[in-house]
Amino acid sequence: MGTEDGLHAILQHRRLLELLQRIEERVATDEVEDEAETKVRHADAARLLGELVSLLESHFAVEVATSFPEVRSQRNSEQLEVLARLDAEHPVLLNAFDEVRRMVGDPRVSPRTIELAFARAYAAFRKHEACENALFLELC
Ligand SMILES: [Fe+2]
Ligand SMILES: [Fe+2]
Repeated sequence: MGTEDGLHAILQHRRLLELLQRIEERVATDEVEDEAETKVRHADAARLLGELVSLLESHFAVEVATSFPEVRSQRNSEQLEVLARLDAEHPVLLNAFDEVRRMVGDPRVSPRTIELAFARAYAAFRKHEACENALFLELC
């Protein structure tokens, strides 16, 4: 991967993080006044989660298509191990966010359960991306 690809990947990560922060704010339960407000916030969260899932789908596809073959060709066993783990995490992360999107639209799921499910998915994503950024920078 060249420097440009590495920078592009990092910029994409920033855009994803902005979107994630907006969703986090919409599903937060600490300052919500009533049920009507929760409904409005959750409708917004559902829309943003839909956007996030499709952005992640293309983000992961681009990573696999452009950055990953480059790493694979280097045949550094430590990097290959990290890469295999990152690769396997993509569908897991997508499912986790899609599950939150489904929960937000289900009136039987409590706002607190949604908040916690999102926090778990977000933490897993942050860990994934931090590891990826480190790997990209190593190769630039
Ligand atoms: Fe990734
Ligand atoms: Fe990524």
